[in-house]
Parts: sequence; C-alpha cells; structure tokens
Amino acid sequence: MKKLLGITLGVLGLGVIGFIALVAYENTIYGESDVANGKQKYVQNCLVCHGERGQGDGLIAATLPKTPVNLHKKFGRLNPVKSGIIGAVLDGRDGGMPAFEGVLTKNDVNDIMAYVLAQNNVTN
Ligand code: HEC
Repeated sequence: MKKLLGITLGVLGLGVIGFIALVAYENTIYGESDVANGKQKYVQNCLVCHGERGQGDGLIAATLPKTPVNLHKKFGRLNPVKSGIIGAVLDGRDGGMPAFEGVLTKNDVNDIMAYVLAQNNVTN
C-alpha cells in the first residue's frame, strides 16, 4: 500500500514538473511577442466577433451559434499552455469560430494573445 502511494506521488510529481517545464518551454518557442503585429492581425481577423478588447462582445457576436469566447479570460494566467489555444485558433470551432490555418501563423496568434492581454490592462 505504501509502495503504491509512493508511486502515485512520484507520478504526480513528474506530471507537475513536466507541466511547469512545458509552460516555460512554450514561452521561449514563440520568442518576443510583437504587440503591433498582434493588433493588426486582431483587428483584421477577430474583432468583429470577439470585440474591441476581446471580451466576446463583437459587432456580430449575437448572430453566431455560440457566444465568442472571452479572450481576455482565455489568454489569462489560468490557461498558460499556448499551443492548445493556438491550435484551437488555427483549427476553428463548430460554434461559429472560423479556422485560421493558412491565414495566420502560430507566431501571429501568439502576438494576438499579447495584444489582447495588453489591451485589458489599460483602464479607460
Ligand atoms: C465569425 C466570428 C469569429 C471570428 C472572426 C473569430 N472567432 Fe474566435 N470564437 C468565435 C466563437 C463563436 C467561439 C466559440 C466557439 C465554440 O465554443 O464552439 C470562438 C472561440 C474562440 C476561442 C476558444 C477556442 C477553444 O475552444 O479553446 C479562441 C481562443 C478564439 N476564438 C480566438 C480567436 C482569434 C484569435 C480570432 C482571430 C484570429 C478569432 N477567434 C476569430 C467566433 C469567432
């Protein structure tokens, strides 16, 4: 029984370390975020649905099968695995979210995330 507990804790520990390493690694692969590029790409491709500050309240949001996700929350600290979010943007989603494969690069999406987060730190 004790052995089983030890193994379980060991596996959990490795999982936590692996997760932290993944997050640290992901922060390096996309390099410095280019917020100006993020802004341009966001305004061109996302704003109409996700809204000016990414809160999910764009001009045509109400006409879609599902409410566009609040990107400020989605990109925040609770979702640190960037590749998951980037993959979702490139693949699209059934509820009215178009696929951006071939339109945007992974780095573009990374820049968009930085732009949306920066946008929401501004008080107005
Ligand atoms: C035509 C409207 C529309 C456009 C344009 C659009 N989205 Fe979305 N987006 C949605 C909707 C609707 C959802 C919710 C989809 C669902 O839950 O099925 C969504 C979901 C998402 C999600 C959550 C995906 C998940 O399930 O993890 C992300 C991230 C996202 N959008 C980012 C973006 C980014 C970045 C852009 C611009 C490059 C963009 N969206 C452009 C409508 C849009």
